[in-house]
Amino acid sequence: MADDYKDELRARFGLDVDLGGEIPDEPWLHQLLLRRTHRRYADRPVAESLVRLLLAAAFSASSKSDFQQASVIWLKDRGRHDRLAALFPDMPWIGTAPVFLVFLGDARRLEKLGEMRGHKQSNGALEGFFNATVDAALALQTCILAAETLGLGTCPISVLRNRIKAVSEILELPDKVFPVAGLCLGYPAQPGFISMRLPLEATVHIDHYDESGLAAVDGYDRRRDARHSIGNRQRSPERFGTAEFYGWSEDKARQAMTPEGFGFAAWLRTRGFTFDEPETPAG
Ligand SMILES: Cc1cc2nc3c(=O)[nH]c(=O)nc-3n(C[C@H](O)[C@H](O)[C@H](O)COP(=O)(O)O)c2cc1C
Repeated sequence: MADDYKDELRARFGLDVDLGGEIPDEPWLHQLLLRRTHRRYADRPVAESLVRLLLAAAFSASSKSDFQQASVIWLKDRGRHDRLAALFPDMPWIGTAPVFLVFLGDARRLEKLGEMRGHKQSNGALEGFFNATVDAALALQTCILAAETLGLGTCPISVLRNRIKAVSEILELPDKVFPVAGLCLGYPAQPGFISMRLPLEATVHIDHYDESGLAAVDGYDRRRDARHSIGNRQRSPERFGTAEFYGWSEDKARQAMTPEGFGFAAWLRTRGFTFDEPETPAG
């Protein structure tokens, strides 16, 4: 029945969502709608067998052209894990996570296959970078959902790219291999909270792109504020002033004024990516 997901949809969107008809009642979807990131972990080890199961699930994700351009580094060595964590003191959960994985876009393996099979090609065009990124992102999210299904908590970590040189040294990354995001894994130490999402009218466009959905942002800001206000933690008031009402959209607009990832594009170019069109047009 459509009512079956009412509470979860309200939790996710802060309003009643009418799905408009009969729908199957699937327990896993109830859980999915309530999913959340966790940054605090219980002092309980995660069995290696479980991590291997999660990795197997991660690599079950779809892959563009079956090229399989994702790789993962499982940081088992405590010293290396600590060195990585020390680069990001603002995010202590990187160091405290019982398990830390790094999901990599791996445009290199396809080049190696070409060398092995006598069909040498370069995979450094935008297409190769983009496909490897998407593959890694899909593997990452599949791993997250598998972990959450088993009661684990996770937090993706893209801040790695802000210190790309140091990170790539610690992980010994070769050319054409780059981090898309790390992933903290552990049993949650607390329930956490659901991060409310924009209403579907803002994110789902029927038949053509339609910017009128932006009108839904104000209401979303208010609903989100009523549940979890960030009003007393305004970002850089010395730069932007103090807003009378401080909602999600103001916060994200301010956040975006301090771009991240400086040096990442330049680093990628030193690692063999040109971001050009492919060298030979696809046949
Ligand atoms: C690609 C990606 C990178 C992220 N990087 C970080 C990060 O570096 N540090 C962090 O604490 N959270 C990070 N997050 C977690 C997001 O902040 C979180 O998913 C978002 O606030 C929504 O919350 P929810 O996952 O609980 O719905 C990342 C999430 C994604 C998808």
